[in-house]
Amino acid sequence: MPRLKIGVLISGRGSNLQALIDAAAASDYPAEIALVLSNQPNAAGLGRAARAGIPARAIPHSSREAFAAEADAVLREAGVGLVALAGYMRLLDSGFVAAWRDRLVNIHPSLLPAFPGLHPQRQALAAGARFSGCTVHFVRAAVDTGPIIAQAVVPVLDADDEDTLADRILAAEHVIYPLSVRLFAEGRLAINGNRVTIAGACAPDGRLFNPRDAAVGPLASSGG
Ligand code: GRF
Repeated sequence: MPRLKIGVLISGRGSNLQALIDAAAASDYPAEIALVLSNQPNAAGLGRAARAGIPARAIPHSSREAFAAEADAVLREAGVGLVALAGYMRLLDSGFVAAWRDRLVNIHPSLLPAFPGLHPQRQALAAGARFSGCTVHFVRAAVDTGPIIAQAVVPVLDADDEDTLADRILAAEHVIYPLSVRLFAEGRLAINGNRVTIAGACAPDGRLFNPRDAAVGPLASSGG
């Protein structure tokens, strides 16, 4: 069975791109990265692609429409069947979003619909949330909206600042993005309105408490 070709759009560091590269290195992973595009010529993620031998190019962001037109053309030429936004920091042209509907996914470092937009970790701390996390979702026109594929939850600790919370969330991102792309590539996702159903999914059991439920055990000293 041929592997699904994915195109990854980045703007910077590319640690989620790296997680996808690492996942796709396994011979039983059902997707391969065919192309990496960046709107920033100096994005560190372009180096990650080059080291992995993946075609990569920067498309300078002259205008939203021009970027979208060129990205669309090269993604199609590369035979891409799924576009994954991985720290792509610009709004996408609405025509591009419509053209790739249900074949365009994003990762965001909060439990959407909470804290969309910029600085979601800062928003979570400011709101006093005791849990945050990350979300992989299909992309719709409005920023950080669309049917949710997967989420991971992390606790917010009393001692957290934006960086420590971002690091804890990022480690979870690197798990759920490759997982979500796998589920898409295996044809296991069905979109019904805002809801995604997943064939053969295993949901976790139980509940999470922060602070921990006394019945679960004593509070860990680091557990907040
Ligand atoms: C990640 O936190 C991602 O969720 C957000 O931007 C960040 C990109 O990080 N959209 P990286 O470039 O993948 O390291």
